[in-house]
Amino acid sequence: MTNGDLAIEASGLSRTFGALVAADGVDLSIGQGELFSLLGPNGAGKTTTIRMLCCLLRPTSGTAKVKGHDIRTDPLSVKRVIAISPQETAIAEHLNAWENLSLMARLHGMTKQETKQRSGELLEMMSLTGRATDRVKKFSGGMKRRLSIAMALVSKPQVLFLDEPTLGLDPQSRRGLWEHIEGLKGDTTIVLTTHYLEEADALADRIAVIDEGKVVALGTSEELKAGVLDAQVTIVEAENLTDDAVEALRQRFSEVRLIAGGVEIGDADASLDDISDCLRPRGVAIQSAHRRRVTLDDVFLQLTGKQLRE
Ligand SMILES: Nc1ncnc2c1ncn2[C@@H]1O[C@H](COP(=O)(O)OP(=O)(O)O)[C@@H](O)[C@H]1O
Ligand SMILES: [Mg+2]
Repeated sequence: MTNGDLAIEASGLSRTFGALVAADGVDLSIGQGELFSLLGPNGAGKTTTIRMLCCLLRPTSGTAKVKGHDIRTDPLSVKRVIAISPQETAIAEHLNAWENLSLMARLHGMTKQETKQRSGELLEMMSLTGRATDRVKKFSGGMKRRLSIAMALVSKPQVLFLDEPTLGLDPQSRRGLWEHIEGLKGDTTIVLTTHYLEEADALADRIAVIDEGKVVALGTSEELKAGVLDAQVTIVEAENLTDDAVEALRQRFSEVRLIAGGVEIGDADASLDDISDCLRPRGVAIQSAHRRRVTLDDVFLQLTGKQLRE
């Protein structure tokens, strides 16, 4: 990637709130047209980072360029090329979908004719045409999110920020929204934050794992999985697993963690015989053992010591 191909370049981007370091020296290079995900738990600093990139919050130190415009010195130019669908959606509940979109279009200085055309296109794109004149108050969470994204798209942004677009949605609505987000991929650069691993895995070209304000890993989902752990995890179901037996496993293998009804061993060298050698002398019977591929959950756990579960 040459610099000319970058949509976003952040270097040492930091923000403190009193003693709290919410973003801590974030470096990012995001390519044109890339769907880039910031993945991290609640409080990791995702929204803070995005708000700085959108010029809604000033960095304490460091800076970034968005489409070549410096967020510190040229926020107006940045704002002309970006749009954000914030974590808390900014839609007017008492208006209908059409009115929300039209309002946004008029705010962007579009003529009546342009407003009508753009709103129509976006309702269609987000599968809301049939609900255009229903009050947003009656919309499901998924529909509100789609409308929020449609509103962000009114200005045809070159860079679109989606902050936790599927937060709080049920799994089916979440998947529905993924399809709509997939459909936006192409010319538009998209920065999507999420704490759902499957979401980053399903949608993102590249992922930055962020924890306590720092980028702790960066790459494609495959690179993250390959780089951090052995490609296989062995799952052993065993009854009456004693502390002593777990300790013996930990002495022998690198990644041992307790799961319901057994242990997971993230060590490609762990053969069933070796595992059995640890467990049998300690009176633990193995009921079953199988292997599975590494997931982003494993990557995250290994990097941060935290589990990213709902
Ligand atoms: N305006 C603010 N004032 C004080 N603390 C804040 C403010 N905004 C965010 N924080 C804190 O900064 C940290 C990162 O927050 P945030 O960027 O919202 O995380 P995320 O979006 O990853 O959940 C959290 O500890 C949060 O409480
Ligand atoms: Mg957030």
